[in-house]
Amino acid sequence: MGRIYRKRRWLGVLFFFLTILLSWLLALFIKPPVSAQWGLTMNSAGDKPIEPIPLQLSLDSEKVVLGKQLFHDPKLSETNTISCASCHSLARGGTDHRPRSRGNKGQVGTMNAPTVLNSGFQFKQFWDGRAASLEEQIDGPVHDKTEMGSNWPEIIEKLSQSPDYVRAFDKIYDDDISANHIKDAIATFERSLYTPNARFDQFLRGNTNALTNAEKEGYQRFKAYGCVACHQGMLLGGNMYQKFGIFGNYIQDRGGESEADWGRYHVTGKAADRYVFKVPSLRNVISTAPYFHDGSAQTLDEAIKIMIKYQLGREANQKDVDLIIHFFQTLSGELNEVHS
Ligand code: HEC
Ligand code: HEC
Repeated sequence: MGRIYRKRRWLGVLFFFLTILLSWLLALFIKPPVSAQWGLTMNSAGDKPIEPIPLQLSLDSEKVVLGKQLFHDPKLSETNTISCASCHSLARGGTDHRPRSRGNKGQVGTMNAPTVLNSGFQFKQFWDGRAASLEEQIDGPVHDKTEMGSNWPEIIEKLSQSPDYVRAFDKIYDDDISANHIKDAIATFERSLYTPNARFDQFLRGNTNALTNAEKEGYQRFKAYGCVACHQGMLLGGNMYQKFGIFGNYIQDRGGESEADWGRYHVTGKAADRYVFKVPSLRNVISTAPYFHDGSAQTLDEAIKIMIKYQLGREANQKDVDLIIHFFQTLSGELNEVHS
């Protein structure tokens, strides 16, 4: 009797530990879906939910200050007239509000300047995603004849004439001024250009009063039309490529096709990547007109109607478009006052 009892107790203890081990393994290997972690619902395609922008980022503040100075310095251009801020004005939503940017010697470029705000959260840089990082992106405008028309040796020579710069680089990098250090400082500054605490983020964090009823209805329309299939994740964009003109050829209807309309084709050389672009972020979108890679939509009303027609193959209903614009008004966050 006694022996059987002891055996059972031993089995019970073993079972107890096995159960703990099993649940521990389960917890380790079967993570809850991201939607459950965020307490948000995903759409049926299983896409990334929209997450709030972090309230704080830890960045090297000395690099941010140096990067800010470089970002605003026209010495980065051939003629000492154009800085990054000429086309990405922080007071103007991080862009220049021109359909196509104007740069070195007044030349007009081929594409619309996207905002630099929140660019640090994007999976790739440029409309066609040809730069993998903010650091890599900087080589573009510096060398582009229509943007800054310069080169690193020329820039380093000019900056080296300033004792303030020489001192700052020496302090931060313990080294001379170099292309890599310039890129590192500017990219760190750009990462500091994030805009947290938009009313929509307050709503996502649980404050249901942060949005008006019209804005909430606009968010519903945004989801119901299927905009979230492409404009998703923290930036409502900036995390995938998609073809512009799925239900019809927007470029043809617009007229005057040029190489600037070819998108990812420039990177991959594949015919299927023609007209494929990075889905742009919709953060602060009310402040970044005109819209699209070609700046062809002057207003959000126009842009949304084009999206409904060419990306979703549906007829736009004016009331829904107006509601979505109301929703877009909740996507503007706060830029750290250091930058204003
Ligand atoms: C003459 C105007 C002009 C100047 C000067 C300029 N940019 Fe741009 N910027 C653009 C345009 C236009 C694009 C889009 C080009 C493309 O996608 O091919 C762009 C794209 C970008 C992007 C990618 C954003 C995204 O969403 O993909 C970043 C980041 C950026 N610029 C930062 C900078 C920095 C940093 C400088 C200074 C070193 C700079 N720009 C100088 C016009 C300019
Ligand atoms: C199939 C993917 C897809 C869907 C669905 C989609 N979009 Fe887009 N959206 C894009 C792409 C790609 C672009 C960039 C087009 C270009 O300029 O080349 C874009 C651009 C935009 C822009 C311009 C942003 C800027 O800064 O230039 C707005 C605004 C926009 N979309 C809103 C919407 C709305 C609202 C919906 C739903 C009614 C929607 N989109 C549905 C892929 C999509």
